[in-house]
Amino acid sequence: MTQHDLLVIGAGPGGYVAAVRAAQLGLDVACVEKEQALGGTCLRIGCIPSKAMLESSERYAEARKDFAQHGIVLGDVGLDLKKMLKRKERVIKTSTSGVDYLFKKNKITRYLGHATFLDRSRVQVSGGDTDTEIEAKNIIIATGSKVATLPGVNLDGDRIASSTEALSYDEVPEHLVVIGAGYIGLEMGSVWLRLGSRVTVLEYLDRILPGMDAEMANEAHTLFKKQGMVFELGSKVTGVRVEGDHAIVERNGADPIECDRVLIAVGRKPHTDNLGLDAIGLELDELGRIPVNDHFATPIEGVYAIGDVIRGVMLAHKAEEEGVACVEHIVNGYGHVNYNAIPGIVYTHPEVASVGRTEEELQDAGIEYRKGTYPFRANGRARALAQLDGNVKILADAKTDRVLGVHIIGPRAGDLIAEAAVAIEFGASSEDIARTSHAHPTLAEAVKEAALDVDDRAINI
Ligand code: NAI
Repeated sequence: MTQHDLLVIGAGPGGYVAAVRAAQLGLDVACVEKEQALGGTCLRIGCIPSKAMLESSERYAEARKDFAQHGIVLGDVGLDLKKMLKRKERVIKTSTSGVDYLFKKNKITRYLGHATFLDRSRVQVSGGDTDTEIEAKNIIIATGSKVATLPGVNLDGDRIASSTEALSYDEVPEHLVVIGAGYIGLEMGSVWLRLGSRVTVLEYLDRILPGMDAEMANEAHTLFKKQGMVFELGSKVTGVRVEGDHAIVERNGADPIECDRVLIAVGRKPHTDNLGLDAIGLELDELGRIPVNDHFATPIEGVYAIGDVIRGVMLAHKAEEEGVACVEHIVNGYGHVNYNAIPGIVYTHPEVASVGRTEEELQDAGIEYRKGTYPFRANGRARALAQLDGNVKILADAKTDRVLGVHIIGPRAGDLIAEAAVAIEFGASSEDIARTSHAHPTLAEAVKEAALDVDDRAINI
């Protein structure tokens, strides 16, 4: 048996960041991870590979459709999918080996295998290179999430599959049916649409991107439709099956759809399989999540949990903040996450980004607000980029002017939203943003103009 001050179970963005921060604070840290590569879903089969494919497919689509307007004349633009997939694998490898480097640099002991609790301070590691028992005063569970599916739908990992497989289809599907118009459905749907697939998105609700500001989601819907994505909203899928080399998707009130591949993207659920939580008497909540208090402590002394396995949005950067706050609380007695300042980004084209409260949330809460908006078509840099779609919307408290929510759809919205997150974190007013110099010509000027518009004094419109 080996002993450590802290054991982290899971080396995704939540777990590895917690481990690094704990090592910085002087703890002897170990981390158990069942996969050979560190970095979790995000680095291996999630955020990083999907962004690699989104970048590559966007370049391809631009070369085919957009370069001509810049006066760039190309011959036939071809697709070498194998090479594109290989590049994605290299991006993954560089990213996951970066975590290996961080572990070495911070002297974090890595165990390869599956962790199962024996009691509240001891864990059995098995199925890896060696079976071993680890004892630690504190243990953080950071085991992430797994794909959710529909009742009665079996993922065969081929025709009917999750985003993991959709990152690596070896040929461009002729017709891809995506079930779920959330983050994964829209990002992966965009990749294959750009590479030449016909893409049909079936969504149960009467809108896309639930949880995002409705006005922005509607605008995104219009733009994605223009790109050729076909949406069927209010669509209840009742079954998916394979027939020969096709898949058949059945839904209520409409004819079945025949397609090459089906991507199931209806959400994710906490991953606690075979963790041995019974051995420590830790019960999950009604949604299968590990219950924690504000300091990420479970009801079991010395056992903590962070990231997708607990309440809240399933986002890598939320897990990272929780990992840091959890460890700092263990070591220093303080540590805090401001959930209101956690941005959400959909990396489509254009990107959709959001931080703070939506208009619907403010209306439901009876909070009076003022709204400033600014379209990218009025922004000089956006014109130079030839990316005119979208706008910035800032919601500020009607009395205090404090920024309550910022929603952006447009070029590089995912980068622009960082300024808004800082504003919310610092309790800034819209006037603070409006009076801050924003370099010209930049896309960020659209954020400044939207802030000016809260007070009805945007200049360039
Ligand atoms: P999601 O929760 O974003 O979207 C799932 C969608 O499926 C929703 O629109 C929902 O209404 C719909 N749906 C549910 N049941 C359905 C049914 N029976 N028929 C049709 N539609 C149905 O989940 P998604 O896209 O699978 O992503 C999983 C998680 O991964 C999310 O929590 C997200 O936060 C995270 N993620 C984040 C990314 C990012 O930050 N860019 C990228 C990819 C995933």
